[in-house]
Amino acid sequence: MVGATAAAAGAPEGAGAGRTDAPVLARVTLTVNGQRRDLELDTRTSLLDAAREHLHLTGSKKGCDHGQCGACTMIVDGRRINACLTLAIMHQGAEITTIEGLGQPDQLHPMQAAFVKHDGYQCGYCTPGQICSGVAVLEEIKAGIPSHVTGDLEAAPQITEAEIRERMSGNICRCGAYSNIVEAMTEVAGARA
Ligand code: FES
Ligand code: FES
Repeated sequence: MVGATAAAAGAPEGAGAGRTDAPVLARVTLTVNGQRRDLELDTRTSLLDAAREHLHLTGSKKGCDHGQCGACTMIVDGRRINACLTLAIMHQGAEITTIEGLGQPDQLHPMQAAFVKHDGYQCGYCTPGQICSGVAVLEEIKAGIPSHVTGDLEAAPQITEAEIRERMSGNICRCGAYSNIVEAMTEVAGARA
């Protein structure tokens, strides 16, 4: 009798029919930074909001919420992803690494340490996304995945400044720390070679 109620309230015919204000909830289990996390979420919750608002992992940043800045980058099942552009419930059973899972202040990941050493940030807002992306980029190159600037698609891609800049082009830094980020990534890549 929603329609009748709406009509009695003076609402246009059909308004409110079949609608409910209650969000649709769904259960999802994620492994986040090595820990199993069981969540019950509004199905519209992005992976970024699930991490920040529900798990209180606020390292991943919301810059644009539109897939244009990379501040929200996380590593999901080994691949970097814009967490603002994907729903949490799409990742049932996934292994998710956020900046908090890469390292901590007393035990930095080599990429975090290299960013500190090379001044790869200024305000730091983009930095968690840059570092997660940087770690995944080196894995992509190591796995032989070509980029737009890879010249020879039959040869293993090399870790060059051009490759790093191209692959990191989805991570925007308003402070313009790009050249220092390239230096940090190059050092980590060299240390791993
Ligand atoms: Fe996700 Fe900008 S907040 S890409
Ligand atoms: Fe400020 Fe990148 S360090 S936006």
